[in-house]
Amino acid sequence: MKTIEVRTSSPYRIVVGSGTFPSKVVEAYKRFSGRLPVIVTNPTVLRLWGKEINRLVDRISARLLTVPDSERAKDVKVFTRLVEEVSSLDSARRSVVIIAIGGGVVGDLAGFLAGTYRRGVPIIQVPTSLLAQIDSSIGGKTAINLTSGKNLVGVYHQPCEVVIDTRFLRTLPEEQVKEGIAEGIKYGVIRSPRLFSYLEERAGDYKDLDWEYFVYSCAKIKADVVSRDERETRGLRFILNFGHTFAHALESASGHRISHGRAVAIGMVYAGRLSRELGLCGETTFRRLRDVIRAWRLPTEVDLSRLGGVRRVGRFLQKDKKFSEGEARFVLVRRIGSVVVSEVDVDLVLKLISPNQNRR
Ligand SMILES: NC(=O)c1ccc[n+]([C@@H]2O[C@H](COP(=O)([O-])OP(=O)(O)OC[C@H]3O[C@@H](n4cnc5c(N)ncnc54)[C@H](O)[C@@H]3O)[C@@H](O)[C@H]2O)c1
Repeated sequence: MKTIEVRTSSPYRIVVGSGTFPSKVVEAYKRFSGRLPVIVTNPTVLRLWGKEINRLVDRISARLLTVPDSERAKDVKVFTRLVEEVSSLDSARRSVVIIAIGGGVVGDLAGFLAGTYRRGVPIIQVPTSLLAQIDSSIGGKTAINLTSGKNLVGVYHQPCEVVIDTRFLRTLPEEQVKEGIAEGIKYGVIRSPRLFSYLEERAGDYKDLDWEYFVYSCAKIKADVVSRDERETRGLRFILNFGHTFAHALESASGHRISHGRAVAIGMVYAGRLSRELGLCGETTFRRLRDVIRAWRLPTEVDLSRLGGVRRVGRFLQKDKKFSEGEARFVLVRRIGSVVVSEVDVDLVLKLISPNQNRR
């Protein structure tokens, strides 16, 4: 088992290992044992991991609440129902500790609940998807969606502990594992040539990846970045957006038919191409990036005409908050493990992603 310290305004630790659940959650809960423990999970995770989750329920006399599977759970109505349920469980007002067991959706929703119920109660995050283990459970961003857009209502609320058990990944469908691998490649590009080389060497090997090494390496990078820039005020946290400016536009233009991980994969190739065109990185770096994405069977291209054309995708790009007055803020790669944030002219970006320019 490995431990990572997150040095945010309220510091906490992340434990990573195989077999950390439920014992490390029981330990973390002991600090708050006067409070009622309330587990939030979803039916998929409960079906697959019910035996272990019930063991936790028994050991700490927890209450168990479920929310619907998938993104539709990050909804105002689901949130209202959930917070009312928590409030009625907490009728003695001794207050609660929330324990989120699930993917990023459960983590974001339960995190928002913990950040707002009685102006903030402790939350222990138990991420069960790869994306949640290496990304969403760390850093304290929580949110739910509105009909007008994703993650529009949220608060920063750091967990008091993140317990990562890599055994959860055994039941995760490969399609979901891919979502996490795309983010893992991102971490390699922004901060770790070693992690990147590991992903090159083990390319496509979904079965035998050393999950403890992979998850720990990624979670450590995320923890270091958020420790130094908790609320994205110093510009550093922005590097976590490598590939994401393009990705958000592709996701929106496709009506979310292109998943986030796949959009990030394509977005990283676009960002790499942009970096090369601007003379920031050489052809070798660009090719390594594109080839590792391809080797993990993630997409490197999308036919923009199927998304309504370059102009339409461009409009979605310009809707992104990272854009302002003809300029866009991008994370660009200098070499593997080193990135810079730079303002780029929107016209140049659009020219670059136009199909005729897009085939190399
Ligand atoms: N807060 C942040 O900083 C942050 C960062 C990135 C993404 N996010 C959010 O995270 C969400 C996406 O997270 P996600 O990719 O984990 O999606 P998800 O939570 O929908 O999980 C994906 C699917 O895998 C299932 N699942 C989870 N664990 C499983 C397991 N061990 N075995 C089998 N199935 C399992 C889920 O039930 C779901 O069907 C989005 O809402 C996104 O906005 C938040």
